[in-house]
Amino acid sequence: MLRFETAGESHGECLVATITGLPAGVPISLEAVNRELWRRQQGYGRGGRMKIETDRAEIVAGVRHSRTIGSPVAVLIRNKDWQNWTEALPVEDIEGGEDKRKPVTRPRPGHADLAGALKYNFHDARYILERASARETTARVAIGALAKALLGAFGIEVLSHVIACGPVRLERLAVWEELAVLSRKEEVLLGCIDAETEARMKEVVDQAYRTGDTVGGVFEVVAHGVPPGLGSHITWDSRLDGRLAQAIVSMQAVKGVEVGFAAEGAARFGSEVQDTIHYDRDAHRFTRGANRAGGLEGGMTNGQDVLVRGMLKPISTLRRPLESVDLVTREPSLAAYERSDVCVLPAAGVIGEAMVALVLAQAFLEKFGGDSLEETRRNYHGYMEQMKAY
Ligand SMILES: Cc1cc2nc3c(=O)[nH]c(=O)nc-3n(C[C@H](O)[C@H](O)[C@H](O)COP(=O)(O)O)c2cc1C
Repeated sequence: MLRFETAGESHGECLVATITGLPAGVPISLEAVNRELWRRQQGYGRGGRMKIETDRAEIVAGVRHSRTIGSPVAVLIRNKDWQNWTEALPVEDIEGGEDKRKPVTRPRPGHADLAGALKYNFHDARYILERASARETTARVAIGALAKALLGAFGIEVLSHVIACGPVRLERLAVWEELAVLSRKEEVLLGCIDAETEARMKEVVDQAYRTGDTVGGVFEVVAHGVPPGLGSHITWDSRLDGRLAQAIVSMQAVKGVEVGFAAEGAARFGSEVQDTIHYDRDAHRFTRGANRAGGLEGGMTNGQDVLVRGMLKPISTLRRPLESVDLVTREPSLAAYERSDVCVLPAAGVIGEAMVALVLAQAFLEKFGGDSLEETRRNYHGYMEQMKAY
C-alpha cells in the first residue's frame, strides 16, 4: 500500500513529505525531482515569491545510491523566506514575541481563513492560512516525482497542459508529443499547446493584472502508456475515476473535476459519446473509435490515455480586496492582502500531474505489488503476457 503525507507551513522552516510503500530499486534522480519543483514555480501570473525562491528537494531517507531501498522516503524542501519569519512564527514562544507576530484578522473570502479560525478557535487567521496555502503542494510535487519514477520504469508518463484561462478555451485536442514538447520548455507562459490561444490567454491575465483581479481556468492531466486494469469496478472505493477525482479536488482552489469529456458528453446522446470497440486482427488487439471516456470505464483503466481535468477557481486574494469583517473588532473592513498570484494554471497542471501519478502508482502497486522493482516487474510482465495471449 503506497501512502503519503505532507507537513509544513507556507512561512515555516520547510515543507516535509513522506511516501511509504515504494518497492526497493526504483531509480531516483534528484535532478528530475528538482525539475518538477521548478515547473511548479513557473507560469505567467505568479506573485513575487516565485521570483525569490527556487525550490530544491533534499531526500533525507529511503534513497541510497540513487535507488529506493524499500523504506519510507522522506523529502524536505526549505522555505527560503523563513529567515523573514523566524520571529513571527517561532516554534517556541519568545519574550516580547507578541509584537513580532503578523496577525491576519481580516479573513479573505474564498480562503480557509474564516472557517478555519472559527473551527480551530483562533482570532488570528495566520495559523490557518499558513497551512491552507498552496505552498503545501511543493511537497506533493516532490513525492509525485518519485511516483513518476516508479511509473516511468514501466513506460507510464504523466503530463499536463492548460485548456482554458478565464473565457479563453483551447478549441482542439492535444496530441501526446505536444505535451512532451511543452514539458521540456525552459520558458513557461500559460502552458497551452497552441501559441495563438496562449496569446489570448495572456491578454486575460494582463487584464486581471490591470484591474487588481485574478483569473482561473482548466488544466488537463494526461497519463500515457497506462496498462488496462488499474482500479476496479467491484467496490465504490476501488474505482479509479473516483480516486483520481478526489486527488484532483484535494488541490487548493480546484473546485471541479472532469474525467474524459464528461461535460460535453452530458449534453449529447449516448450514440455520440461512447467509444466504439474494434479489433485489429493483424496486431491481435482491441482498438477504440475515440477516447471520450478519458481512458476509464467501470472505474478501471482501459489502456487508452487517462484524461483528467481540474477546474481552478480564480485566486482568492485580490489586490482590490473584497468586503470582510475584522475578527477582533467585528467592524466591516477590507480583506487582508499579502503578495499573491494572479494566475496559477500551468503550476496547477504540474500539481495535478503529481496527484495523478501518486494515485496511479498506488493502483499500480495494488495490482502488481512487489517489495523490489524486479518483483514488481515480473508481476507486470506476467500480466502483460496474459493480455497478449488473451
Ligand atoms: C499553485 C497554486 C498557487 C496558489 N497561489 C495563491 C496565492 O498566491 N494567493 C492566494 O490567495 N491563493 C493562491 N492559491 C489558491 C489558494 O490556495 C486557494 O484559493 C485556497 O486554498 C482556498 O481555496 P480552497 O477552498 O480550494 O482551499 C493558489 C493555488 C494553487 C493551486
